[in-house]
Amino acid sequence: MFTIRRLAVVLVLMWGAAVAPGAAAQTITIKFSHVVAPDTPKGKAAEKFRQLAEVATKGRVKVEIYPNSQLYRDGDELEALQRGAVHMLAPSVSKFGPLGVRDFEVFDLPYLFPSAEAVYRVIDGEIGQRLFAKLEPRGIKGLAYWDNGFKQISANRPLRKVADFRAAKVRVQSSKVLSATFRKLGAIPQVMAFSEVYTALQQGVVDGQENSTSNFYTQKMHEVQKHLTLSDHGFLVYAVIVNRKFWEGLPADLRKALEGAMQEATRYERAIAAKENTDALALVRAAGTTQVHQLTPAERAEWRAALLPVYAEFESTIGRDLIQAIGAVTAAAEQGRAKK
Ligand code: SIN
Repeated sequence: MFTIRRLAVVLVLMWGAAVAPGAAAQTITIKFSHVVAPDTPKGKAAEKFRQLAEVATKGRVKVEIYPNSQLYRDGDELEALQRGAVHMLAPSVSKFGPLGVRDFEVFDLPYLFPSAEAVYRVIDGEIGQRLFAKLEPRGIKGLAYWDNGFKQISANRPLRKVADFRAAKVRVQSSKVLSATFRKLGAIPQVMAFSEVYTALQQGVVDGQENSTSNFYTQKMHEVQKHLTLSDHGFLVYAVIVNRKFWEGLPADLRKALEGAMQEATRYERAIAAKENTDALALVRAAGTTQVHQLTPAERAEWRAALLPVYAEFESTIGRDLIQAIGAVTAAAEQGRAKK
């Protein structure tokens, strides 16, 4: 009996220590890992989030950022998030397939989005939330969507006509829609981690790749790619995600403060993304190592026609309803833009 009473006292003291001011003030560290350079829209927004989060939580939360695949490459970082080795990531949504969540690949359908506004309308609405819910059974919670603008295609040969793609080995992210897209153009898609792209291009393991101009420039791909085609054929969407257990285990006041910081960082990210890409393109041109090609309307029409069958190919896996719902939201967004 005496032993049980003593045990109870010890437990009460331990509980008291856990909620004592000293313990409550203990710093919580959020490890935020990503694969791109710090001076990209994502890199800058991660830094903005760090600053906002640390102020909003009065230093109770510390955010450590690990850019440029310093800790983990694509794929590895998702596994690390699931086991809690890192707490926050912002991968391209094209990389969720290996988790068994293929729905996000809808964003990879070629020429799906005419403008960034249309993308925002989709990700900020019911569709964006519905897709985030698919991650929850995998122990992942979606906090926000960021973006890196339209994707362009580079190679060591000019790519203007569909025939120019014949047998070109093109690096893609781990999305079946992206692989199918390049197969339709006659190319050979090669799935590869982002951190390996520069060396693969340099060594001729692949002939080309698709990306935003900010990623192209900050990864120095202009040093190893002679041609860049401004095709706007796809859009680079990011999901800022956290380990669900970690996030839900945070004290409610801290979580609220962090959510506010994330909202503000998201506004900042979207405000800079387009300009960062325009500036990067100017730097690519200035470097003088890569010839930049603008597709003519006829060339673009040829690409679109060649890529249209990708939609039918993925209707059954992605879902016709989802594709149509995105089409409807996009059309409404464009109407709104036209009226302005
Ligand atoms: C990123 O922007 O996060 C990387 C995109 C890629 O893997 O191409």
